Amino acid sequence: MIELCNVSKFFDQTPAVEELTLSIPKGKFCALVGTSGCGKSTTLRMINRLLTHSSGEIELDGQSIDAYDPVLLRRRIGYVIQNTGLFPHWNVARNIGLVPRLLKWPTAQVNQRVEELMGLLGLPVSEFAHKYPHQLSGGQAQRVGVARALAADPDILLMDEPFGALDPITREKLQEMLMQLQARLHKTIVFVTHDMDEALRLADMLVVMRDGRIVQQGTPLSLLQKPTDSFVDSLLGGLERGLKQASLTRVKDHMAPLGPHLPAQSRVMTEQTLRQALSMMLRDHCEWLTVVDQHDVPVGELSLRKLVKEAFQAQEKSRDV
Ligand SMILES: Nc1ncnc2c1ncn2[C@@H]1O[C@H](COP(=O)(O)OP(=O)(O)OP(=O)(O)O)[C@@H](O)[C@H]1O
Ligand SMILES: [Mg+2]
Repeated sequence: MIELCNVSKFFDQTPAVEELTLSIPKGKFCALVGTSGCGKSTTLRMINRLLTHSSGEIELDGQSIDAYDPVLLRRRIGYVIQNTGLFPHWNVARNIGLVPRLLKWPTAQVNQRVEELMGLLGLPVSEFAHKYPHQLSGGQAQRVGVARALAADPDILLMDEPFGALDPITREKLQEMLMQLQARLHKTIVFVTHDMDEALRLADMLVVMRDGRIVQQGTPLSLLQKPTDSFVDSLLGGLERGLKQASLTRVKDHMAPLGPHLPAQSRVMTEQTLRQALSMMLRDHCEWLTVVDQHDVPVGELSLRKLVKEAFQAQEKSRDV
């Protein structure tokens, strides 16, 4: 769906992105991570042609973006940035309807689309349609930003640190919202973030950049298991890598059948993560937990010893590959 082949971008003589080769399949959620100035935003802006690449080839569905009509490109690609980029003198409804209006949709259709999106993003029309950006909280403004990016039903979403300025609780809520949206809409998403937990939580594929180049790409789990060098290792959390890996794994995938002994006092749910289970073991001073389903019925148990052994085996396996 999105293909970059040997793409470079120079500002004057200085390279910002060099020889980038990346292929993002349709419907995938790709997170771009790396230290400040490594070329993440530049990469996004080349994909929607806010910046022209200096060399190499960028294609959408096998067609060079240079050959795309700019209006069509704008329709196909939604763009969300950290400070939302909303027009301050336009109310929420007008901001969301921007691209459909540019595309000359009939007014009734624009209004209908705006209402639909406000519903989708949990912004009641009666409360928010006529508010101006300065009357919104950061989280609400980001929702409007996402709604605006989705307005013309693009199949690609580029998101540049969209939740960067939010408190952890609002951030987590919007991550949840984005995951639900993605499960329904199956957009192809390129998402830039400095928050590794956010990247690991949301992404199907993780791309690590350094000094304008890609140093490693793969699934979050594969990178956590086998970072290519000490830079990727430290970016992914260094000593915390084991816990980050545990946060990507559900209890239900590691539980054993209930044993004949009395169930453990502490209970963990099948859908919780191994990281949460480990935290509970530390909190409650216990080496095993009873696993319960959503009706609080015991369905298995989780043992610390077994977890450690399995994690070790998984690592051995990845070393052999
Ligand atoms: N318009 C520009 N003119 C000159 N240099 C630029 C321009 N835009 C970006 N750069 C340079 O290109 C490099 C990559 O910048 P970019 O904004 O892509 O980094 P980034 O990875 O998004 O960083 P951050 O995480 O801080 O947002 C930086 O060295 C930056 O100074
Ligand atoms: Mg940036």
